Amino acid sequence: MNTVKILAPATIANLVCGFDILGLALNHPQDEMELTLSKEPGLRIKHIDAYNLPEEPAKNVAGAALLALMEEYGDASIGFDLTINKIIKPGSGLGSSAASSAGAVVGANHLLNNHFTKQDLVRFAMNGEKVASGVKHADNITPCIYGGVTLIRSIFPLDIIPLSAPPMYVTVVHPQIEVKTSDARQILRKEVQLKDAIKQWGNIAGLVAGFLQNDYELISRSLEDVIIEPIRSILIPGFDEVKQQCKEAGALGGGISGSGPSVFMLSKEEHTAKNVEQIMKNIYDKIGVDYHTHVTTVNTEGVKVVSSEA
Ligand code: HSE
Repeated sequence: MNTVKILAPATIANLVCGFDILGLALNHPQDEMELTLSKEPGLRIKHIDAYNLPEEPAKNVAGAALLALMEEYGDASIGFDLTINKIIKPGSGLGSSAASSAGAVVGANHLLNNHFTKQDLVRFAMNGEKVASGVKHADNITPCIYGGVTLIRSIFPLDIIPLSAPPMYVTVVHPQIEVKTSDARQILRKEVQLKDAIKQWGNIAGLVAGFLQNDYELISRSLEDVIIEPIRSILIPGFDEVKQQCKEAGALGGGISGSGPSVFMLSKEEHTAKNVEQIMKNIYDKIGVDYHTHVTTVNTEGVKVVSSEA
C-alpha cells in the first residue's frame, strides 16, 4: 500500500486553565488528506480547499512537519505527494494547523511501517506549529495524534500523559472574526502574580483529577482561568454573555478554544449541549456577528489512517 487517506480531528487546546499543556480531540470537524509514498524524492503538496494556503513545503504547516520526519528518516531516495482538503477553518482556534501537521506525519509513519513512535510524530508536527504561529506548542498536536484528553507536562523534553476522561459533549461556536494565534500570544502578560498562579495550579490539578475520577462537579469548578482568559476574551465579542448563560443552562463550563475566536462549552448530557448551542446562536444573532456552531463529542482515536490503493 503506498497511498493512504487520512482523517485528522479538530482539537481544543488549553481547556481553559491549562495554557499550552492541556487539550482534547473532537469528533467533528476533521480534515481530509491523501498521502502517497513516492519513488520520486522530495515533497509535493496540493490544497484542494478554498483557503489559499502556501503549497511550498517549508512554508506549509504539513510540509514543515513532513520535512522534519523525512530528514530524520534519512532515506533521500523516497518522497511524498500530499493532497489536503481542509475542513477545519484556518484561524478558528480549533487546531486547524495542528490537524494538517499531525495528519501528515501520522500518514507518513503508516507508509513507513510505523518506523517512529507517537512521541516522535508530535516532535515532527511541532515544526508545523512553528510555521503557523511562531512557537512550537504541542497542545493541539498531541490530542490530535493520541485522541482523547492529553497533558503535555513538558515539551523540551517531550513528556506526554494521555488522560482518561468521562464521556462529554462539546458545543463550539465560531464567531466569524479573525484572531491570529501569534497576536493572541503577543498580548499576554509575561509575568504572573503568585496569587493568580496559585489559583491556576489549583484549577489545573482539579481539572486533571476530575477527568481521571470521572467527577463532573470537580471538572466544572476547575474550568476557570484567571491568567489568560481575562486578557484574550476582550478579543471575542459576546464572550462573557456566552459563558454566563451557558453555565446557567447547565454546561459544566468552558472558555476560549485555543487562542480563539471559537468558544467551547463542555456538557454532561447531549440535551444540555444542544440547549447551549441555541444560547450561543441567540447571543450572536443579537450581537449581529456571523458564526458557525456544532455539537460533538470527544474523539478518542486521534488521526485515522485508511489504506486506499495498492
Ligand atoms: N496554547 C496555544 C495558545 C494554542 O493558546 O496560544 C493555540 O492554538
